[in-house]
Amino acid sequence: MSIPRIFLITTLTVALAMAMVATIVPQAEAARAFFVFGDSLVDSGNNNYLATTARADSPPYGIDYPTHRPTGRFSNGFNFPDIISQSMGLEPTLPYLSPELNGQRLLNGANFASAGIGILNDTGIQFVNILRMFRQFQLFEEYQQRVSAIIGTDRTQQLVNNALVLITLGGNDFVNNYFLTPFAPRRRQFSLPDYCRFLVSEYRKLLMRLYDLGGRRILVTGTGPLGCVPAELAMSGSTNGECAPEPQRAAQIFNPQLFQMLQNLNRELGSDVFITANAFAMNTDLINSPQRFGFVTSKVACCGQGLYNGLGLCTVVSNLCPNRNVYVFWDAFHPTERANRVLVQQLMTGTTEYMNPMNLSTIMALDAKL
Ligand SMILES: *[C@@H]1O[C@H](CO)[C@@H](O)[C@H](O)[C@H]1NC(C)=O
Ligand SMILES: *[C@@H]1O[C@H](CO)[C@@H](O)[C@H](O)[C@H]1NC(C)=O
Repeated sequence: MSIPRIFLITTLTVALAMAMVATIVPQAEAARAFFVFGDSLVDSGNNNYLATTARADSPPYGIDYPTHRPTGRFSNGFNFPDIISQSMGLEPTLPYLSPELNGQRLLNGANFASAGIGILNDTGIQFVNILRMFRQFQLFEEYQQRVSAIIGTDRTQQLVNNALVLITLGGNDFVNNYFLTPFAPRRRQFSLPDYCRFLVSEYRKLLMRLYDLGGRRILVTGTGPLGCVPAELAMSGSTNGECAPEPQRAAQIFNPQLFQMLQNLNRELGSDVFITANAFAMNTDLINSPQRFGFVTSKVACCGQGLYNGLGLCTVVSNLCPNRNVYVFWDAFHPTERANRVLVQQLMTGTTEYMNPMNLSTIMALDAKL
């Protein structure tokens, strides 16, 4: 009846060794997690799971993605967060609503972004069912509970504190709210400078919430040059490709105030939690000197119709350029994969004019020492 002692010991040793491997390996392998919040510039497919018209799940979206199929990204291929992940050697970050995001994959982070949303709840109401910021944060809390069930609350806290966070917001508060119609309620309520001040104060609350939820390295992009996207060139009837003045003025008022607010927050927190990514300056370089970066045009969208291919949606019946690598804009609002690559290069190595107080390569070197 008695089990040979040697067998028992061996079994016990093996079981112990396996238990040790099981606890040690995930820690040793744990790469930095990456969390993404914001709008269509960074949505990697959450809206595919929602009843909304703000979606990119039909051709020719995704035409240059590895699968050559639409994914929900507002790009011909990879989008801005994908390329950040690639550049930092991180695992790809899946949309939070994707059923594939489960188990160990949760430890790589998650993308909560949703096309059409803004800083304000009333931005993008025409898109009906999208993940507004309060909802993205609720899902982030839910995410942390799910991860806690796998690795415990302490390690979850650590994972979130050590993660890189990206938040891209603000464009829709102008183009899909204030400037949507001449009679937009916010436009009747606020002058443009007052509206910008209001947006920055609301954005500040969102960022403090993100800090309270554990974010400690948070990349904040301002808006690009809003008047220079093909949609605005077309709608303003631009004749020589000159940018639409009003949205351009909005971006010029909003961005400096946002950057100032981020600096103030860091000072209050006594730490460089918030990193300014000056998307306005980065995109302006591309728009002013496309040739310098190997592009042929920064005015005409690759996919669309009408003036500058800037009217309506990008669909299977739209004009489609043969070579996406020579266009800055993929559709009327969003950059091509190749433009995104140039922008991420600036994130990695840009000077303080683009990345303040430091760029991503500096952050990686710094945080590696912790
Ligand atoms: C946005 O809407 C949610 C849900 O209705 C609400 O809880 C939240 O307070 C709102 N945020 C603001 C800033 O009004
Ligand atoms: C940005 O990155 C480059 C290249 O790694 C580095 O030389 C430079 O000092 C960095 N600039 C800042 C302000 O961190």
